[in-house]
This record gives sequence, structure tokens and C-alpha cells, in this order.
Amino acid sequence: MTSTDRKGIILAGGTGSRLHPITMGVSKQLLPVYDKPMIYYPLSVLMLTGIREICIITTPQDQDQFVRTLGDGSQWGLRLTYVIQPSPDGLAQAYILAEEFLAGNPSAMVLGDNIFFGHGLPEQLQAADKRKTGGTVFGYRVADPERYGVVDFASDGSVHQIVEKPDKAPSSYAVTGLYFLDGSAPLRARMVAPSARGELEIVTLLESYLHDGMLSVQQMGRGYAWLDTGTHASLLDAGNFVRTLSERQGQQVGCPEEIAWEKGWISSDQLLERAQLFAKTSYGSYLKRLVV
Ligand code: DAU
Repeated sequence: MTSTDRKGIILAGGTGSRLHPITMGVSKQLLPVYDKPMIYYPLSVLMLTGIREICIITTPQDQDQFVRTLGDGSQWGLRLTYVIQPSPDGLAQAYILAEEFLAGNPSAMVLGDNIFFGHGLPEQLQAADKRKTGGTVFGYRVADPERYGVVDFASDGSVHQIVEKPDKAPSSYAVTGLYFLDGSAPLRARMVAPSARGELEIVTLLESYLHDGMLSVQQMGRGYAWLDTGTHASLLDAGNFVRTLSERQGQQVGCPEEIAWEKGWISSDQLLERAQLFAKTSYGSYLKRLVV
């Protein structure tokens, strides 16, 4: 059930320019999505995979905000490492920056602004985790694929290529911001040449796996939510989605304390300590109710 050697990366840099002026003074990935910082959600995805060693990549100016928010991770039974990306030179660069941290291990990288929800998500994640060689990405049907990396399927249903923000999308399947890659990712990332827009593109790195016949695309069906936080409206919608769901069910979405406690990474006493820290909020009451 738990991942043994796979390490996690959360890429949480970038300029946040599409959310200006909100992100002038605060990192996008720390903005609230209803009752918790955005990064809690992708963090929870890595934790659900069973990953406990995680590298958080941030901009130089925002790193201290992340350290203040997440600490060393021990409150969740995790080990967090912080790495700076000096400038936003592309998603594939994360693997070069995290090379020492990964030390040859396979990884799961999630973008710090991606929110996933769905019954069966842990099983999806664990299926991807089991493939220790090659790469796995997730295809998700969207109404506006042109905004994302898009899967181009061959006539036999296999993946022909993945194209970044095409003018005309070859399918409705976007590639989500969650990448399970084997230990060769940093080496492959080093061979990626900058694109016309000057970035080390994730699709070029994925192309290298595809070329070697080592890329799997796992479909995330309609029972899953992959939420967008890229515009002011979609950020608000994501918050409302979390609110609606958690109030209706009386259960949290993306709660690291709950996952850590259920996995046995923290004790009931540690959970109650966190509940006490958040005593004035419904988040704190929720944590308390889990054990009492
Ligand atoms: O969300 C999924 C999509 O994410 C994929 O479908 C695309 O293939 C992938 O390129 C990416 O597209 P975006 O348009 O969302 O990329 P963006 O440049 O906005 O970066 C995504 C996040 O990563 C964003 O929160 C900022 C952060 N970032 C971005 C770059 C380029 C970094 O931390 N460092 C970077 O160098």
C-alpha cells in the first residue's frame, strides 16, 4: 500500500501573472481554496500515493512563505525539502533542480495549483506508482483542451503524441499536472532543448518516454474532478466546489492531517495537537472529531 522509494515533487513557482493583482504579494499556490491553502490539495495527492519525502520547488521570493506554511513536514509524518527555481524556465526544469533530492529514485511530480478529487483516486495513484520504469500521466476530458497539454491518439487508441496548447486540439483529453516518472527523468530533462517560448517543456520530456515506448496514459474518468485554478472565476469555483462537498458530506477534501493519521504516520496525540492549533476554525473541529 505504501510507496517505498518514489519521491514527490510539488512545483510551486511561476509568476502567478494570470491572477494579478492577487498574486502580487503572495504565491498563487498559497491562495485559499475555501478553507485551506491551495498547496494542501496537491500535497494530499502525493500523500495518498504513499509518498513521505517531498521536495517543494518555489521562487526565491516566496520560499519563506512556504516554509512558514508547511514547515519541515514532521506534523504530517513527512520530510519536506525546499528548492528554489531562480526563474520560471519550464516544468521539465523541476527534474534538474530536484536531481540531487531524487538521487536516482522514481518520482511523482504534481503542479502546486492542480486539485484532484474523486472516489477511487488512491487506487488510480497506486496503479501508477506500481510502474517503476517509464512514465505515467493522466488524461482528463475537458471542454477546452487548447489550454493544456493534449493527448493525440493514434487510430489504434495508442498515444501518438502529446502537444502543448495546440491551436486545434487533436482530442478532448488534457494531460493533468501529475507526472509519475522513473529515475531517468533528470537525465532526460537535461536533454530537453528550450522551446520557442524559452521553456523546458514537460511535453518534450514526456515525448522522450513516448519515443522509447515507455509512456502510459491513465484515463481519469468522469467520476473525478480535476479543478482549474487558473483564472479568478475558476479559483472561486474551486473554493465553492470544496465548500459544497465538505459541508454536504461532513468530510474534508485534501486534509493532510487526516491522511497522515489514517496511514499511521502520526499518532492521535499529534492529530489533536494540530486540532488545538486550529481550535478557532471548523478545520480544527474536524480534526478533533476524527479521534474523539
Ligand atoms: O495544469 C496542467 C497543465 O500544466 C498541463 O496540461 C500542461 O501540459 C502544462 O504545460 C501546464 O500548463 P500551464 O499552462 O498550467 O503551465 P503554467 O506555465 O501555467 O505552469 C503551471 C504551474 O507551474 C503554475 O502554477 C506555475 C508553475 N510553474 C510554471 C513554470 C513554467 C513553475 O513553478 N515553474 C515554471 O518554470
